[in-house]
Amino acid sequence: MSIIDAPIRADRNLSARFAGWRLTWALTLLIAVSATAVAVTVGGVAGANEGIRITARTSAVLFLLAFTASSAYRLWPNDFTKWVRRNRRYLGVAFAGSHLVHAGFIIASVVLSSARFKAGVERTPGGVYVLDTIAYGFLIAMTITSFDRIAKQMQYATWRRLHLTGSYVIWLTFFVAYWRRGITYPLFYGPFLLIVLAALVIRAAGKVKRKNAATED
Ligand code: HEM
Repeated sequence: MSIIDAPIRADRNLSARFAGWRLTWALTLLIAVSATAVAVTVGGVAGANEGIRITARTSAVLFLLAFTASSAYRLWPNDFTKWVRRNRRYLGVAFAGSHLVHAGFIIASVVLSSARFKAGVERTPGGVYVLDTIAYGFLIAMTITSFDRIAKQMQYATWRRLHLTGSYVIWLTFFVAYWRRGITYPLFYGPFLLIVLAALVIRAAGKVKRKNAATED
């Protein structure tokens, strides 16, 4: 191996090591431990709310990577987009892990101050919680059916419909969450909203490219 090849090999080793179910576990543990450390340092209900916000953001990153994986690779084929596409299932399940921690912090915030949680619920349109709950339902169903043993027992068309519908429902949930915050605090939450919107554009552009390639063949 030449000196010039060394960094490329190291890069490949790294991307091979951080792959598959090991990647899912590593990300979920990292998120759980670091969000809990921050929440405990802040303390009380404010800490639990900090945990909710941190895990919502780690979830957004993981979900959007999985959501755009195939399209991003089609539009910009390179080592990174290839790695993301290959690991989209594991990133998707890591998103579920991160959102399990989100749920844990929500429960902690209710236990620590139900009055504060109730005040938040009163300020939030009911439809948001309905959508949040439906999204959690899809997230659970998509996670369970991400395991080969269960997926194999389903018809592919059903599996695909579940994952396609679920991914758009979850995208909409992030969009609504950041839209509501984006219009109130545009300087801080505007970029979050733009990233969520950009993911939809990437996905649409990837589909157009795939259709064009199919008609050229
Ligand atoms: C898949 C479903 C869900 C998604 C995608 C989601 C996503 C989000 C996002 C993006 C935020 C904003 C975080 C930030 O400030 O950057 C957030 C905050 C929050 N979420 Fe979730 N959420 C979901 C389900 C729920 C459910 C079911 C509840 C409660 C019943 C909930 C309670 C909260 C609360 C209380 C906050 C505000 C924390 C604060 O600003 O202090 N979420 N969520």
